[in-house]
Amino acid sequence: MKLVRALANLGYGSRRQVAMMLREGRVTDAAGEVLYADDAPAWHEVRVDGEPLDPPPGLLLMLHKPPGYTCSTRDRGRLAYSLLPTRFALRSPTLSTVGRLDRDTSGLLLMTDDGQLLHRIISPKSRLPKVYEATLAEPLRGDEAGVFASGTLVLESEKTPLLPAGLEVLSPTRARLTLHEGRYHQARRMFAAVGNHVLALHRVQVGGLALGDLPEGEWRILDAGERERLW
Ligand code: URA
Repeated sequence: MKLVRALANLGYGSRRQVAMMLREGRVTDAAGEVLYADDAPAWHEVRVDGEPLDPPPGLLLMLHKPPGYTCSTRDRGRLAYSLLPTRFALRSPTLSTVGRLDRDTSGLLLMTDDGQLLHRIISPKSRLPKVYEATLAEPLRGDEAGVFASGTLVLESEKTPLLPAGLEVLSPTRARLTLHEGRYHQARRMFAAVGNHVLALHRVQVGGLALGDLPEGEWRILDAGERERLW
């Protein structure tokens, strides 16, 4: 792909703005030689103002979403997108969140511009486990793990029972919940169904991929090995 188009697709500016950047000599190769609009150099060779290019399309990243941020692109409050470089919201193909976390839920949020990968991850058929740590208002009663594992729990205003879910008790008011589907506010509604209330919800894992020690509000690109670990 020609450089002018590649840079515009990465959100560095409109084609006209990118053409201007090229004319100004701000785009070079790794050795500092100025590149031109029609050049098609190897991705890793290109520098903009001396900095390596953003990753090419096919990007998958993980963000440690803090509570209070929404997964929408145009909500009035704070947006998860605002934690990424501004350019990332202007990329083509579009960078989307892989499913959503509620505004008040924190933790592992995946984002990708690869539509096929996105659908593979969120498809109900994939049944990819998603692991949450919940802090609860009331001590657990003791029967919750059985109710969640039963495959018969029907949430309010729904008709089909939930798939069996795993519950590991961490303390009287903390538990780790493993879901294999993603219904609206599912974790919060499940605890409401057993007479409790979620005070804080934090996603620690999607598939085999753990949030690890990535600090809150930070993000990083996932490499091929980590992508594999998802499955
Ligand atoms: N379940 C919820 O209730 N909220 C989330 O954000 C994710 C799962």
